[in-house]
Amino acid sequence: MKRLNWGMIGGGFGSQIGPAHRLGAQADGNFVLAAGALDHDAEKGRAYAQSLGVSADRAYGDWHEMLAGEVGREDRVDLVTVATPNSTHFEITKSFLEAGFNVLCEKPMTMTVEEGEEIVKIAEKSGKICAVNYCYSAYPMVREMREIVRSGQIGKVRLIVTNFSHGHHGDATDADNPRVRWRYDPAMAGVSGQFADCGIHALHMASFIAGDQVRSLSADFASTIASRTLEDDAMVNFRLEGGAVGRLWTSSVAIGRQHGFDIQVFGETGGMRWASEQPNQVYYTPVGGRTQIMEKGESGLSDEAARLSRVAIAHPEGFPLAVANIYVDLAASIRGETRDGLPLASDGLRSMAAVYAAVASADKEGAWVDARPPMYQ
Ligand code: NAI
Repeated sequence: MKRLNWGMIGGGFGSQIGPAHRLGAQADGNFVLAAGALDHDAEKGRAYAQSLGVSADRAYGDWHEMLAGEVGREDRVDLVTVATPNSTHFEITKSFLEAGFNVLCEKPMTMTVEEGEEIVKIAEKSGKICAVNYCYSAYPMVREMREIVRSGQIGKVRLIVTNFSHGHHGDATDADNPRVRWRYDPAMAGVSGQFADCGIHALHMASFIAGDQVRSLSADFASTIASRTLEDDAMVNFRLEGGAVGRLWTSSVAIGRQHGFDIQVFGETGGMRWASEQPNQVYYTPVGGRTQIMEKGESGLSDEAARLSRVAIAHPEGFPLAVANIYVDLAASIRGETRDGLPLASDGLRSMAAVYAAVASADKEGAWVDARPPMYQ
């Protein structure tokens, strides 16, 4: 099958998420890196793109140049990944969608709910794909949990408990480090710190596995390091449309927790647990029965879990290959197939509505607020 042309904005040398996209997009032979505006420094971006094999005429200095250069080409990129800092996502995503490109945008998709609604509408009008990189939902064993819920194996979901709590910003003596400080500065990060950064992954995962959407929430925010304006810790209670109860803790000051993302889903007839630090296993307990460890790659898993696993049982695939699964489904969608697990602009919009709802709730001492974006109410 012909490879698709792929372009990347941001994700330059030394960036956190850039390598995961490059490994992911190119893991299965679907995409070839054909163009890029990889860095805020034009010359560094051009040089780095060429070192990755991009031809000189498609190693752009910035995204405006890339849009102008790609739009008229017959072999223009089939997909653009936006992996720049948050405040640029809206403008870049909007511009490329309007010019008829498919886009994979990093989270958070936008800085406001209004921008999120605009992106959803532009994507619908353009007929192009706008996906958002909620990549944890693409781990094979997360898909297995979703299939277990879908099949009715644990009955109706009653309760979801999820944490995305790490301790990497817990050192008060490092709080002024520019790489840390911006995350808690409203001028750079927007209305929320830790909840918008990590909490939305956990909230998306809860909806994804349950197959239901968040309706309302109540939040308690704390800035445990005094110099921080935005929260570095949050506890969020939520309810799904179907009535399931949700509890979410997210923190960046939980010293000793490393990646710290896990989720438990409790239904009428069973419970399950998955953690990003042991992503090959799901712990499953039927009501009244013994706990079983389900292992990625073993027989008897769902077609979906099997489809998204590449290497033999017990070998870790890990984060870049979860990102690769997003690209597998993107490639299939671009080629005209339907893939229902792909996180889309509607998910990015729902996250942003939840962020604003959490901020409003925290400001009102945890009052319950509607967490749905206006266009889905
Ligand atoms: P970073 O600061 O490590 O890297 C950002 C990169 O973008 C740098 O190479 C920088 O030079 C480049 N850049 C900045 N402005 C640019 C512009 N206008 N045009 C072109 N390039 C530009 O940031 P990091 O941690 O890689 O985060 C990037 C995005 O990815 C953020 O939105 C973040 O929320 C998201 N992210 C998502 C993760 C996930 O699990 N889905 C994990 C980590 C980050």
